[in-house]
Amino acid sequence: MAHAGVTAAALVLLLFLRVVDVDAAEFSALSQGQSLGAADTLVSPNGAFALAFFSPLGGDPNRRYLGVKYARAAEPTFPWVANRDAPVSAASPYSATVTASGELQVLQADRVAWRTNTSSSSSSSGNNVTLVVTDTGNLVLSSGEERLWEGFHHPTDTFLPGMHIALDRRDNSSITRTLFTSWRSPGDPATGDFTLGLDPQGSAQLYIWHNATNATSNSSGIYWRSGQWANTNFVGVPWRSLYVYGFKLNGDPSQSVMSYTFNTYNTSLYRFKLHPNGTEACYMLLDSTGEWETVWAQPTVPCHKYNTCGANAQCATGDDHGQATCACLKGFEPKSAAEYGDGNWTQGCVRSAPLTCEEKDVKGGDGFADLPGVKLPDFAAWGSTVGDEGACRDLCLGNCSCGAYSYSSGTGCLTWGQDLLDIYEFGDGEGYDLHVKVPASVLETGSKAKRWTTVIVIVVIVVVVVLAAFSVLLCKCRRRIKEKIGIGGRQHKRTPSLLCPAREARQDFSGPTTTQPDPPEDVENGGKKCELPLFSFETLAAATGDFSGANKLGEGGFGHVYKGTLPTGEEIAVKRLSRSSGQGLEEFKNEVILIAKLQHRNLVKLLGCCIQGEEKILVYEYMPNKSLDAFLFDPARRSLLDWNTRLHVIEGIARGLLYLHRDSRLRVVHRDLKASNILLDRDMNPKISDFGMARIFGGDDQNQVVNTNRVVGTLGYMSPEYAMEGLFSVRSDMYSFGILVLEIISGQKNSSFHHMEGSLNIVGYAWQLWNAGRGEELIDPAIQAACPAREALRCLHLALLCVQDHACDRPDIPYVVMALGSDSAVLPMPRPPTFTLQCTSSEREALFRDKAHESYSACDLTVTVLHGR
Ligand SMILES: *[C@@H]1O[C@H](CO)[C@@H](O)[C@H](O)[C@H]1NC(C)=O
Ligand SMILES: *[C@@H]1O[C@H](CO)[C@@H](O)[C@H](O)[C@H]1NC(C)=O
Ligand SMILES: *[C@@H]1O[C@H](CO)[C@@H](O)[C@H](O)[C@H]1NC(C)=O
Ligand SMILES: *[C@@H]1O[C@H](CO)[C@@H](O)[C@H](O)[C@H]1NC(C)=O
Ligand SMILES: *[C@@H]1O[C@H](CO)[C@@H](O)[C@H](O)[C@H]1NC(C)=O
Ligand SMILES: *[C@@H]1O[C@H](CO)[C@@H](O)[C@H](O)[C@H]1NC(C)=O
Ligand SMILES: *[C@@H]1O[C@H](CO)[C@@H](O)[C@H](O)[C@H]1NC(C)=O
Ligand SMILES: *[C@@H]1O[C@H](CO)[C@@H](O)[C@H](O)[C@H]1NC(C)=O
Ligand SMILES: *[C@@H]1O[C@H](CO)[C@@H](O)[C@H](O)[C@H]1NC(C)=O
Ligand SMILES: *[C@@H]1O[C@H](CO)[C@@H](O)[C@H](O)[C@H]1NC(C)=O
Repeated sequence: MAHAGVTAAALVLLLFLRVVDVDAAEFSALSQGQSLGAADTLVSPNGAFALAFFSPLGGDPNRRYLGVKYARAAEPTFPWVANRDAPVSAASPYSATVTASGELQVLQADRVAWRTNTSSSSSSSGNNVTLVVTDTGNLVLSSGEERLWEGFHHPTDTFLPGMHIALDRRDNSSITRTLFTSWRSPGDPATGDFTLGLDPQGSAQLYIWHNATNATSNSSGIYWRSGQWANTNFVGVPWRSLYVYGFKLNGDPSQSVMSYTFNTYNTSLYRFKLHPNGTEACYMLLDSTGEWETVWAQPTVPCHKYNTCGANAQCATGDDHGQATCACLKGFEPKSAAEYGDGNWTQGCVRSAPLTCEEKDVKGGDGFADLPGVKLPDFAAWGSTVGDEGACRDLCLGNCSCGAYSYSSGTGCLTWGQDLLDIYEFGDGEGYDLHVKVPASVLETGSKAKRWTTVIVIVVIVVVVVLAAFSVLLCKCRRRIKEKIGIGGRQHKRTPSLLCPAREARQDFSGPTTTQPDPPEDVENGGKKCELPLFSFETLAAATGDFSGANKLGEGGFGHVYKGTLPTGEEIAVKRLSRSSGQGLEEFKNEVILIAKLQHRNLVKLLGCCIQGEEKILVYEYMPNKSLDAFLFDPARRSLLDWNTRLHVIEGIARGLLYLHRDSRLRVVHRDLKASNILLDRDMNPKISDFGMARIFGGDDQNQVVNTNRVVGTLGYMSPEYAMEGLFSVRSDMYSFGILVLEIISGQKNSSFHHMEGSLNIVGYAWQLWNAGRGEELIDPAIQAACPAREALRCLHLALLCVQDHACDRPDIPYVVMALGSDSAVLPMPRPPTFTLQCTSSEREALFRDKAHESYSACDLTVTVLHGR
């Protein structure tokens, strides 16, 4: 009997589950009066996020929470939770409802467990209040255009693209800021022990506090510190990819309102989570498996934690198990006689001898001990007006209370008072240089030891050099012998070095990723999955009026472009590749699939292709506003491009390029960036077109290619190393980008540039003006009157950096995007350009007819030396 009863109960339960299952509804919006039941979901338009009730894995299954989840993640992941401290019970009915008064409530029976508190504030309540989940994972309650409430303003423990980590200090008495609070435990979303937010003092550092109901910036309670923001990354997080993922600071420490934002192209792929144990980690969703990959996490070793070694000590991570090794800074000693053998360094270190400055009030008696490659200490003062290292040093030397300084282009001039807290030695080439003020006597004792070391080093070097010279001689003799008997032919394989070695590249531009092209596996894996629509030749012939001249839009490097209209009415641009492009079918297909993978709002979209017999055709979206050159170089239309539009275009191109060079993970070098390849949509959004053509027509996907029989690219936009030696890299794209920006600012074509001032090209001309402090004169007269000179000059400055002669002197695109997005970044000075390359097209043919660089004497190479100011 009992058995039958159990079976019946199981059946009922099963039936109940079935019923629940059948009832599960999927909403795209909840309007007033509608409810989200236990099994229902509210899904974002792109399907990446959904709002639903859940019980966390490993938690109490009876407790139910309303949360936003990643729809595609394999393991349930909830970046946002509504009723984290007020769960509803699974035992009785519950729902989430948009009430008649326009409020979102989580209800258990008739009890309100959680509410948005929006009903009274909204005068428009009762009018069409709807709840949606956006493609970024934001829960938005709105009435018409007005947003009444957003989940992003009330974050849980996860920082998502599109959120702000904000601080507003305009009102002294009530500082407002965004705080993230960890879950209590992995199975319990309730408010936990750790809180992350901006330093309320306005240092623009992020802190994690422990037990911080009252998160202050006092050292007690601080668990972790990001370090100062250095334009592209945090001092304590030398993870440069941060800014590649669009992480940036809006505002700076001198302002009372600031925020960090994080905008990735694909908003459903990255998240930062504050774990219940206080670890902050960044994750990326792997497309193929739905698993989360840890991109970065801190603190992971004791040294990452705040002030592990106490004041005036440095923390280094030993080899074994990441344990912390503390040591007093040079010129300091443990506070008590005990050497802290118990490992308790909380008391830190004190000066072993007082500063001359303090003791005798003499300013010349102190010097600086250098501490390279560290996480700079907390409580820095920012000398916002100091522009170079010397001045920063003087600032510190001239102030007896200054205990240390540091200068870098990213952070500017930072100075510290007497106690230096939370110094971590990176020891792997990362970090920043700290200069700690010590009495001159401390430096002298150091230098005695140094002298001995120097002597030893010199002796060793001499011995090595002698040995080396000897062995070279030996080799030469051998080769002579070999040549005489006719073996060992000369191998003269040039290995062009466009890759900037990290040391050589200027610090402010370099990123470790620059030298390493991302692995191409993605291409292959993705390529097979990607299904690009195939068009039949007949369809396209019909759409374009049999490729009639009347429909011709233009001529690309490798074929003609026609406007077409599909039977559905959709307008398309059709590029018919000329038959002589000389490429095999397989290669073409592979390349097309690759281009189809490149999707970004600043790249023109490939809709499909057609391969039929000899015909190879690409179908793109149609751009009603044609290309940038049609505006820029047309006397009648150029004034339509006001400065804001031009800036918008520059930023758009930069973002598209960022995607090509970095975010797409394919590392595509465009090679033919120019005004006519920038298309404009209805809203004047720029879209890079013809991308990937270089790959189709002969490149391998390395950083550099020597192209000998076909010029891919347009003279005037080509970097010197590409034009002269056929070498290209992402930095030759940067050159083209720089030219493009100069053209956008000036409204003048580089190729037609014959200015009065001799035979300068646009680079030389722009540099001369800028160097003479007359940069404004470059601005297109058509817009000059209404153009904010400051913005234009900043773009000009950036453009001049992009067109530096040496590839390694040019910034990379993440830097440019970052610099465009921030007013405060201090840009380095460009060097004067030295080459002005002007060739006729026949000379150009000659230039590329033969093997690379032997023949560039055929070209009229004008060397113009300009002098710096
Ligand atoms: C709504 O107001 C109540 C009472 O003031 C408060 O406890 C609750 O946190 C508020 N809810 C939200 C989502 O802010
Ligand atoms: C509510 O919204 C719908 C569609 O968005 C619209 O058709 C309707 O007129 C709106 N009603 C009111 C009262 O605003
Ligand atoms: C904020 O405090 C500073 C000094 O503490 C004071 O000078 C300033 O007037 C205050 N501002 C406001 C808005 O209260
Ligand atoms: C901090 O939180 C931990 C863990 O919850 C607790 O054991 C400890 O007592 C708290 N400390 C303070 C000072 O509140
Ligand atoms: C936080 O600390 C400040 C000063 O230490 C105090 O005035 C304030 O009341 C505290 N707030 C809370 C919520 O404890
Ligand atoms: C924070 O530090 C300041 C000085 O550094 C001190 O005056 C203040 O009392 C501290 N506040 C707390 C809550 O410890
Ligand atoms: C904190 O938790 C995360 C996630 O569970 C884990 O990866 C990390 O190692 C933990 N950190 C520490 C210091 O325990
Ligand atoms: C963003 O990532 C998701 C999940 O991997 C993917 O399905 C989606 O297509 C991507 N969106 C874009 C615009 O690439
Ligand atoms: C370290 O030393 C300080 C003061 O000497 C003491 O208050 C603290 O409890 C010690 N911590 C540990 C973990 O022993
Ligand atoms: C000297 O340096 C200290 C610490 O950085 C700073 O607080 C103080 O304002 C400085 N004094 C002057 C006159 O610059």
